[in-house]
Amino acid sequence: MKKLAVNIARLILAVAFILSGFVKAVDPLGTQYKIQDYLVAMGLGRLIPDFMTLSASVLLSTLEFILGICLLFAIRRRMVSKIVLVLMAAMTLLTLWLALTDPISDCGCFGDALVLTNWQTFWKNIVLLTAAVIVWRYPLLMPRLIGETNQWIVMNYSGVFILLVIAGRSLYTLPQFDFRPYHVGTNLRQGWQRMMEGEDSPYAELFMELTDEGEDITEDVLNREGYTFLLVSPHLEQADDSQLDALNQIYEYSLDNGYPFYCLTASTEKGINHWRNITGAEYPFCNTDDITLKTIIRSNLGLLLLKDGVIIRKWSHNNLPDEQDLTGELETSELGQLPSDTVATKILWILTWFVLPLVLLTLADRLWAWSGWLRKRNNNNPLNKEKVIMRKKIVAGNWKMNMNLQDGIALAKELNETLKADKPNCGVVICTPFIHLASIAQFLDQDIIGLGAENCADKEKGAFTGEVSAEMVKSTGAQYVILGHSERREYYKETPEILKEKVLLAQKNGLKVIFCIGESLAEREAGKQNEVVKAELEGSVFNLSEEDFRKIVIAYEPIWAIGTGKTATAEQAEEIHAYIRSIIAEKYGNAVAEDTTILYGGSCKASNAPELFAKPDIDGGLIGGASLKCADFKGIIDAWKK
Ligand code: PGA
Repeated sequence: MKKLAVNIARLILAVAFILSGFVKAVDPLGTQYKIQDYLVAMGLGRLIPDFMTLSASVLLSTLEFILGICLLFAIRRRMVSKIVLVLMAAMTLLTLWLALTDPISDCGCFGDALVLTNWQTFWKNIVLLTAAVIVWRYPLLMPRLIGETNQWIVMNYSGVFILLVIAGRSLYTLPQFDFRPYHVGTNLRQGWQRMMEGEDSPYAELFMELTDEGEDITEDVLNREGYTFLLVSPHLEQADDSQLDALNQIYEYSLDNGYPFYCLTASTEKGINHWRNITGAEYPFCNTDDITLKTIIRSNLGLLLLKDGVIIRKWSHNNLPDEQDLTGELETSELGQLPSDTVATKILWILTWFVLPLVLLTLADRLWAWSGWLRKRNNNNPLNKEKVIMRKKIVAGNWKMNMNLQDGIALAKELNETLKADKPNCGVVICTPFIHLASIAQFLDQDIIGLGAENCADKEKGAFTGEVSAEMVKSTGAQYVILGHSERREYYKETPEILKEKVLLAQKNGLKVIFCIGESLAEREAGKQNEVVKAELEGSVFNLSEEDFRKIVIAYEPIWAIGTGKTATAEQAEEIHAYIRSIIAEKYGNAVAEDTTILYGGSCKASNAPELFAKPDIDGGLIGGASLKCADFKGIIDAWKK
């Protein structure tokens, strides 16, 4: 319900802002006049120069349009909803003042397209303000129409469209959509007639009075059959005089063809004379109401062509018809007819060049997002080989028989501080001689560094002089134990059967087992590595239930690489890791295999760790020599940050 309300509010606001921004941008001068009306009403009329009010008009329309687009697409939801709320609050206060004091007749929020009374405007703003509050309260309930990465395209495209294509073009030529009572196609004769008959009419202030004779020729002009040119300039003093040649040509053309030509202006006699002097104008001048002239054409100068009292053409001073257009009589030329681009063709143009690209972009963006979602879903499917790897990455140290208690504690402390300051991107474990465990467990932050033993007994307890049981290891505070290391297999003759017992006892006591496997040089040279590792797994851990096997970490350590400085190449290691995973999959299924952490061990250093760890089936390392110095070990841990 809440979501529905937020999105209805969003839609109402989006439509209102887009429309309001658009109609203002279509007629920047009209909006400027409105702003000037406001300033006059506030007593600031004379203080603000024209270029500032015109800039304000263009900026206001652009802002409204972009905010509407942002709401529609749910772009920058939090920021946009705040701006909209502030804007609506200010607008509502302003329109309340307008409604109460009535200094201007209509607020101009929708330009000339939709004229509302001041109270209508106020109530409209109350509705919009309510919507703005709802959207501001829950901005994140608006679902995005477009992904964050493509939002800038929508914003920039809309900005360029409204600023250059709509406002800029309207200023240079004339408003592309004309909502005023003098748009192309208006039958002024009929409108005037109705006004004379007493009907309410927008033409009450339309008059043309020849300046020389003082004669009112409005009726003559409107009732005349055929063509009449009306040059419109509210104030000749400020009129653009850059196109005088074109203008004089048009005047000559009108004389040659017998079309009347008048200049309508609200300028004083002085202004008219000045214009005559600088341009050599010979056409007659008529006095007309200043506001009416500004309403007739949004350009100073502008040219109007009447045919039988109907406005059939309007030009701004920037695109007056030239010599080529003015050949032959208007009756037979294209210029003398109503233009073919109707409102429908203009709307179609906007749909094709603005709406359609955005719709296509949105569709492409959503399609991409959807395909991404599908890919992700497939990756999460355990049957899918390209599963996103979720298994734990670990770098474990194996101190072997190195360091006395004091040195061991010092190293563990240093590592503890280092990794607390710079958190690792993987699980870190240190496996130490039994003698260190209890002391180190006291200060080690085991959320960052796990602690483990390097071995445990294959017996639960009893008369086994010199042995340390899994239970004892656990009681020190350690969580891990390395079992099956090749040095123990070789020097202490630990057989697969013995290791099987050790694994069971370790697990029984809640220790996580790092189980080592790996072939000797002779076995590798004989190409028997796969066979060897398979037998080692089968001999000691493949007896476990799936649940217990999931708790095992495997460490593949080719014996020929341990402590020799000879590392398996990343490719060699990856090949056998993949093989190990495949036999785990055969035994326990894909899902277990994919979740099993398989470490590489054997002369792993900071220099070769990144390459090894980059392989898809290598999930970290079991580190001997390089775990005895904090910096060396940290270098390997940091390989997961690369
Ligand atoms: P190494 O030892 O890194 O010194 O080669 C690895 C191991 O035996 O676990």
